[in-house]
Amino acid sequence: MTGSLISTLEGRYYTDQGIFAQEQASIFEKMWFCAVRSSDLANPGDFRTVQVGRESVLIARDRNGGLNAFLNVCRHRGARICVDEAGSVKRAFQCPYHAWTYALDGKLIAAPNLTSMPDVDRVEYGLTKVHLREWLGYAWVCLADEPPSFEDDVLHAVTERLGSLDAIDGYEIDQLSVGKRIVYDVKANWKLIIENFMECYHCATIHPELTEVLPEFADGYAAQYYVGHGAEFGDEIKGFTVDGGEGFGKLAALEEDRDRKYYAITIKPQVFVNLVPDHVILHRMYPVAVDRTIVECDWLYAKEVVDTGRDVSRSVELFHRVNEQDFEACERCQPAMASRAYARGGVLVPSEHHIGGFHEWLVGKLDSAD
Ligand code: FES
Ligand code: FE
Repeated sequence: MTGSLISTLEGRYYTDQGIFAQEQASIFEKMWFCAVRSSDLANPGDFRTVQVGRESVLIARDRNGGLNAFLNVCRHRGARICVDEAGSVKRAFQCPYHAWTYALDGKLIAAPNLTSMPDVDRVEYGLTKVHLREWLGYAWVCLADEPPSFEDDVLHAVTERLGSLDAIDGYEIDQLSVGKRIVYDVKANWKLIIENFMECYHCATIHPELTEVLPEFADGYAAQYYVGHGAEFGDEIKGFTVDGGEGFGKLAALEEDRDRKYYAITIKPQVFVNLVPDHVILHRMYPVAVDRTIVECDWLYAKEVVDTGRDVSRSVELFHRVNEQDFEACERCQPAMASRAYARGGVLVPSEHHIGGFHEWLVGKLDSAD
């Protein structure tokens, strides 16, 4: 039996500032990062700021309807352009320090006395652009000069899990509306949250409502364990709601065989997607400190469900409870990561062995850091 047990990462991986800084540099600032829901920035001038690795990134909708991402740093003397998390500007961003003004596409358009400084090139001294790509109705950004392939880094996670990329199309995630968003401030390292999401060994212990809806979770095998496998609703269960009662009609373009099934996908390094017949739950993690992670969770429904004000509370309540149960478990582990008892790490039981793959991936990323 002991031969089939493998070790986790050592405790220091969850507490060491140096390792966290390395992760920021070689993972969050190198890979594609799911930053904002595109529909949150509906009109020209709407913006949102997010922390990606060690940088603040400003994402805004321009006058042509496109989204752009920039480093949130004034090119004059480096002041933060926007300190608010979200908001809207009329025509341009103006730095609060000396009033350099940038168009919504980042170009420098005005600066007091700039006419007397002909050398300042307005494109060259525009806001520093960050790569941006939209997918699933979210803006994904990448801080690398040469971004990795979106196909290899992001789309591959879906193919690997669902067996094909088409399998996610039926949910039409980009067309869905946000029915509810809850932001969780979790006092735990981001890897504890990923590891927790990847396994279901804990489901029987801490998720009574979820195991009622998805009885196979009580056996501890995560839906993510087998390619293409969806966890089946229990016989008495009518919908993915807190009491197993009726949800909404299945999403219009979804194949019949996905009705009554739950699928989960981890898109490294910071996104979890949960697919059920009538809605999608998408988590984005923002690791802000070695022991603190902000998690934004969106519950996405068919547009008419949200537009007609249908009551989504019973379906929201199910995964909200799951989130609270999971994050409480992660917060329970975080302080113990610094204990001598965990200096050499812990143990992965057989149903958690795929977490070993995540650890190998992580160590590989840190080893290949510049
Ligand atoms: Fe922004 Fe001077 S630092 S205008
Ligand atoms: Fe869980």
